[in-house]
Amino acid sequence: MGKIDLSTKQTPIDYKTVTEKIEASGIANIGKATIRELVRLVNQIEGATGKKFVRMEMGVPGLKPPQIGIDAEIKSLQEGAAAKYVLIDGIPELKKEASRFVKLFMDIDVDAECCVPTVGSMQGSFAAFMLMGKYMKGKDTTLFIDPGFPVQKQQHHALGIKYETFDVYDYRGSKLKEKLESYLVKGNISCIVYSNPNNPAWVCFNDDELKIIGDLANKYDITVVEDLAYFGMDFRKDLSKPGLPPYQPTVAKYTDNYFLMISSSKIFSYAGQRIGLAVISNKLYNRCFPGLTENFKTEKFGYAFVYRVLYSLTAGTAHSAQYGLTSMLKAVNDGSYNFVEATREYGEKAKIMKKFFTDNGFTIVYDKDIDQPLADGFYFTFAYPGFTGEELLEQLLYYGISAISLSITGSDRVEGIRACVSLVMRSQFEDLELRLKLFHEHHK
Ligand SMILES: Cc1ncc(COP(=O)(O)O)c(C=O)c1O
Repeated sequence: MGKIDLSTKQTPIDYKTVTEKIEASGIANIGKATIRELVRLVNQIEGATGKKFVRMEMGVPGLKPPQIGIDAEIKSLQEGAAAKYVLIDGIPELKKEASRFVKLFMDIDVDAECCVPTVGSMQGSFAAFMLMGKYMKGKDTTLFIDPGFPVQKQQHHALGIKYETFDVYDYRGSKLKEKLESYLVKGNISCIVYSNPNNPAWVCFNDDELKIIGDLANKYDITVVEDLAYFGMDFRKDLSKPGLPPYQPTVAKYTDNYFLMISSSKIFSYAGQRIGLAVISNKLYNRCFPGLTENFKTEKFGYAFVYRVLYSLTAGTAHSAQYGLTSMLKAVNDGSYNFVEATREYGEKAKIMKKFFTDNGFTIVYDKDIDQPLADGFYFTFAYPGFTGEELLEQLLYYGISAISLSITGSDRVEGIRACVSLVMRSQFEDLELRLKLFHEHHK
């Protein structure tokens, strides 16, 4: 079916204005637009029509950050933090709380020295890719388990590093082993990258799958870059109790070749302060790679990460943000603040919103973790029969609904769209339901 002509229909957002704004945006194919391009376009349509969209395109945290973080930042500034250069590897208090955090919530042992703050996980991955593109001769290509976070591919383009990718949709459970191995046997893969829970599909690898990944990392001597931007948010389990199982599942249980990224952006709604943690296994941090010497004048991975790459990029992470994150981590480690409970609202909203979609002819694209229904969380994916995701995305703009197409995330599911629940307010649910009903009436 593809696109249908909406010019004769009464759409919630004025047909002429949407069409004009799309044309004026200069974006050749709306379905291929980047997230930031869509944000700009939707802002313009909202401005011109005065109508509010149900905005699901950008993964912005929609919650208030914990006051303890803000208070600690203010206190540090009042005490002079702004005037001082930071320790590039992080203030000792933060390193200590980070090491405690991974012990208490993942049950893994990482020395404080190997927990390093970065300017968001975005910087953590950029710095990691700089090293991993060089560290072992012949291993010059990253393997992404997709769908994934598009900016990490942008980082590869910026750095001129090669990557390969596959959509995990058809390779869950034991099928993952053969698929991964088909890449690894070639010998050119330096690291495997994925997020868990997954942005955009919200699939969560189970321990069997993480063991497959860990075992293969050992067998082929490569690093696993595990992106935990949505730490603890598989709300099917209670991952919120310090020191008690169940723990956040991690590949670190199965290999020492790991580089974990724990962003504060979503778990503490701290995106604006740009701080995250690189948690590098003790073994990887202290390991020597002759391949690093040419560019970094040291063989040591951890040393090169901190004193060559982070120093070159930003010379550390903002001082006050380090104090803010320290205080929030300390509170969760001590059990006085429950960061998982604070984000549970995302899962509850997702459950309601998914039903609005499925009641109106839409389907959920990534809908299972092997044999279990998917968790409700920060993102979900949907499709409408007869449409590609790119076509659907454009048609939905006339109904005041914005999201991104899965095609920009490395997904093979061309019919799919990613919805992010964080910015949608409960007060907009009625609008969302009405708009989806109307869409269905016009398109079925
Ligand atoms: C999977 C994933 N990784 C990393 C990031 C970026 O994290 P940060 O804000 O810490 O740079 C995001 C943000 O949306 C994400 O979804």
